[in-house]
Amino acid sequence: MKVLVAVGSKYGATREIAQAIATVISDFGCEAECLDAKDVETVEPYDAFVIGSALYGGFWRRDASELVHSHVDELRGKPVWLFSSGPVGLPPRPAEAVGEGESLAEVVQAKGHGAFSGCLNSERLNAGERAIIRGLKASVGDYREWGLVKNWAREIGAELSKAKAESTEGQPAQADA
Ligand SMILES: Cc1cc2nc3c(=O)[nH]c(=O)nc-3n(C[C@H](O)[C@H](O)[C@H](O)COP(=O)(O)O)c2cc1C
Repeated sequence: MKVLVAVGSKYGATREIAQAIATVISDFGCEAECLDAKDVETVEPYDAFVIGSALYGGFWRRDASELVHSHVDELRGKPVWLFSSGPVGLPPRPAEAVGEGESLAEVVQAKGHGAFSGCLNSERLNAGERAIIRGLKASVGDYREWGLVKNWAREIGAELSKAKAESTEGQPAQADA
């Protein structure tokens, strides 16, 4: 079972979430590959997909949304999960990490859409971005909830490993090379 975990990330916070998801899915015996969405050349080799992005102004990063839009037919035929990451602060702002991710999930008939809080490092933001963050009343800092992320990934890993076991049921065991 080959799983692509692809991510759109500007400052790296969401890439780390994608890497954590890939690690958990690997623990379930799947071969999970984590790539930036812009580096995905083909979706053909993969049996399942987890695709996510940071939210900016309610939208996914363009490389991630383009990956989804340009492979709708292939993705619809396979198990797909999407995730979005964004809200920062306590309480999180904006209130929910939904935005474009939910509509993309409908487009590809995803099995689920994970919504996770994000991380902001003010030193890395430009002046325009700082102004937007002030307008959102969001706070800088790392608000990622690794327990939630890993639990979500465990559900995916469990479902994929079950599907793998069912697809090989009754087949003769492969001899070691
Ligand atoms: C200019 C700007 C706009 C943002 N807009 C949103 C938004 O609409 N919704 C949201 O949930 N988070 C928003 N965020 C928060 C980011 O999504 C969050 O910091 C995320 O973790 C960044 O991920 P990255 O480091 O992978 O790019 C915004 C952040 C910035 C700097």
